[in-house]
Amino acid sequence: MSNNPILITGGRLIDPAQKLDKKMDLLLKDGHVFWLGEEGKAPSLPEAPTILTARGKVVCPGFIDLHCHLREPGFEEKETIATGTRAGARGGFTTLCCMPNTNPPLDSRAVVDYVIQKARSEGVIRVLPIGCISQGRRGEGLAEMGELAEAGVVGYSDDGAPVSNARLMRHALEYSRGWKLPVISHCEEISLTEGGQMNEGAVATRLGLKGMPAEAEECMAARDIALARLTGGRLHLAHISSAGSVELVRRAKEKGISVTAEVTPHHLTLTEEKVMGYDTNAKVNPPLRTRTDIAALLQGLREGVIDAIATDHAPHAAVDKMCEFGLAAFGISGLETALGSLMTLVNQGELELGLVIARLTSGPAGVLGGIPMKSGLGTLKVGSPADVTIFDPKGEWLVSEASLISKGKNTPLLGTKLKGKVIATIFGGRVVYKEGAP
Ligand code: DOR
Repeated sequence: MSNNPILITGGRLIDPAQKLDKKMDLLLKDGHVFWLGEEGKAPSLPEAPTILTARGKVVCPGFIDLHCHLREPGFEEKETIATGTRAGARGGFTTLCCMPNTNPPLDSRAVVDYVIQKARSEGVIRVLPIGCISQGRRGEGLAEMGELAEAGVVGYSDDGAPVSNARLMRHALEYSRGWKLPVISHCEEISLTEGGQMNEGAVATRLGLKGMPAEAEECMAARDIALARLTGGRLHLAHISSAGSVELVRRAKEKGISVTAEVTPHHLTLTEEKVMGYDTNAKVNPPLRTRTDIAALLQGLREGVIDAIATDHAPHAAVDKMCEFGLAAFGISGLETALGSLMTLVNQGELELGLVIARLTSGPAGVLGGIPMKSGLGTLKVGSPADVTIFDPKGEWLVSEASLISKGKNTPLLGTKLKGKVIATIFGGRVVYKEGAP
């Protein structure tokens, strides 16, 4: 689509990084934010801008997802960089940090280069790869962390699996300091979760499914916080799901330990009860938990204990889910339903709209923080990349397999009506998604 200047007019502009929430126009030019100000007062340009009318809509920085699975290379039947970035754009995301549990995994410069090249040639939004902590994600020896940093990773993680060996995690946190990159922990004490299918508790007992206790997440979170204190390394906790984890992060932050955390939309909106009908689409790791956990996660978001909302978009092919519960893959396809799910919480009065946008923009940008070249993301300050999301907070849509761009149709929200619909996503000054456009 055209790379003309774009004038977005009449919308409610929300940019938490600038503490802005008011009716303003926004002018994008040459891939950057050129001007923002009072409606109808945009400076005139030699080239007439394309006008996007956003009356009744919210205009905000493009969302940044710290945690998604694009599955390429190796699992292209589940998702590709082409389909995943389009799904991201449809969900209002302009930056996706992709996890390294591919095949081969992102543990060498060659594979990171491949992802970056593919994203450039086939992706429609920014893709920032996350490299492995350990070689082959086997949890034995450290990956070439320096080489990965030079190749352009924005963090390290063995996500999908924890780093069970504490000494290895200690070394990862020590070495990561050299590149100022976060080590992203998938907190799970495997000896407590082995064979587990869902949250441990009364529902699991009733369904006859083996449970995974919240404590399996919490004891690993506690260990990693202790190691962050020991090493001074930057720790980021992926997909925290329990009240106990929120409390651990709160206390660690109070002590000045360098820790940040993310939560997914599904852990904020769905409980273990979603598994009642043995719906394999509700099978996810960490598992959906309880109302008490949700209340604590929401409070953690409000207080800033939880820095970011990340999707953990985990697309799977139909065969991975159309089987008995115990054999089904873990994961929820989440890029396209994130905003609508979060708007439910806004409409229920649980979260302020501005806070949700902060945790999707400035929050994750802060986690990517000290990373050179990544500054200016997550805000609409003049001079920032022209990454913009326009959404209709009242727009309703029905989640169906056909409605999803992602190859992963695996969401427990199939058949649910969501309120909150992306109208257009602009990346680097180009419209990369427009509702209704082919
Ligand atoms: O449910 C999950 N799916 N949790 C993970 O940690 C990994 C992910 C995947 O890669 O499918």
